[in-house]
Amino acid sequence: MTANLIGMARFSGKAALVSGGASGIGRATAQRLAAEGAHVFIADLNADLADQTVTQIHRSGGSAVFVYVDLADDSSVQSCAREVAETVPALHILVNNAALLRQGRIEDGGWIENWEIETRVGLRGWVMMTQHLLPLLKAEGGAIVNLSSEGGYLGRPGMWVYDAIKAGVVSTTKTMAQEFTQYGIRVNAVAPGWIVTEMHFASDPDPAARKKVLEETPIDSCLLQRRAGPEEVAGAIAFLLSDDASYITGTTLHVDGGRVGMNLGHLGILE
Ligand SMILES: NC(=O)c1ccc[n+]([C@@H]2O[C@H](COP(=O)([O-])OP(=O)(O)OC[C@H]3O[C@@H](n4cnc5c(N)ncnc54)[C@H](O)[C@@H]3O)[C@@H](O)[C@H]2O)c1
Repeated sequence: MTANLIGMARFSGKAALVSGGASGIGRATAQRLAAEGAHVFIADLNADLADQTVTQIHRSGGSAVFVYVDLADDSSVQSCAREVAETVPALHILVNNAALLRQGRIEDGGWIENWEIETRVGLRGWVMMTQHLLPLLKAEGGAIVNLSSEGGYLGRPGMWVYDAIKAGVVSTTKTMAQEFTQYGIRVNAVAPGWIVTEMHFASDPDPAARKKVLEETPIDSCLLQRRAGPEEVAGAIAFLLSDDASYITGTTLHVDGGRVGMNLGHLGILE
């Protein structure tokens, strides 16, 4: 992901924190921000994966460190923010990306056991993270991107908790944009569609084979008729974080190959 970025250093001298930066969209975003000059904190609970991401970034000539956080644990969130504050005087970029996907239909109650952990991470943890990092973000101003989903707009069978959380991310993004504008902080969300990440293939018995199938099989649920790679979302996140988006705040950018709000009738039944 460092190719074709020669001359682009939109984040030179900036400090960035990406939650869930060890995997998938978070990792691609951390790599992109580092490739464009940022010093990146990879905030994650998976230390092994996070260390791999840090190593990849260092090998590409970028700057990154791992900082442990469990977004489901208030005290962990607070100590993560403290650790960052001990290292840098200001944070310019925050990407609230970490989340969990669990399934369960309303009728059979299968969602109940996942409610607590999904909402703690997806609706509470990242807001608390933002709260505790706010003094650092206020120091010099900056930009925040929160990860929503097409699910927050569609509502899908078996996904009500996840999709309600992602709708909540959209409204909380608007709240944050209004509360933080006085500090020179822009806040936006990205709502990805079907992205090929560990979220969808890591638990398969053969993750590499499953990843290849997902990458190569056409879909009929969006205009572009394919799933995307995480770096395609990272590019949109980087745009919103950059000065190229200096007049954009409180909005949600759909990175879904043309799905939400589209008439897809000619493509047949949605997935
Ligand atoms: N992949 C998709 O199709 C898709 C679509 C729409 C939205 N999204 C959203 O994009 C974001 C990233 O998804 P992804 O597909 O890259 O996921 P992923 O599973 O590949 O990565 C998630 C990362 O979050 C970390 N994480 C999980 N729980 C955590 C916790 N309690 N504390 C700290 N870190 C934690 C994991 O260790 C992992 O590194 C999520 O918010 C997801 O809901 C993904």
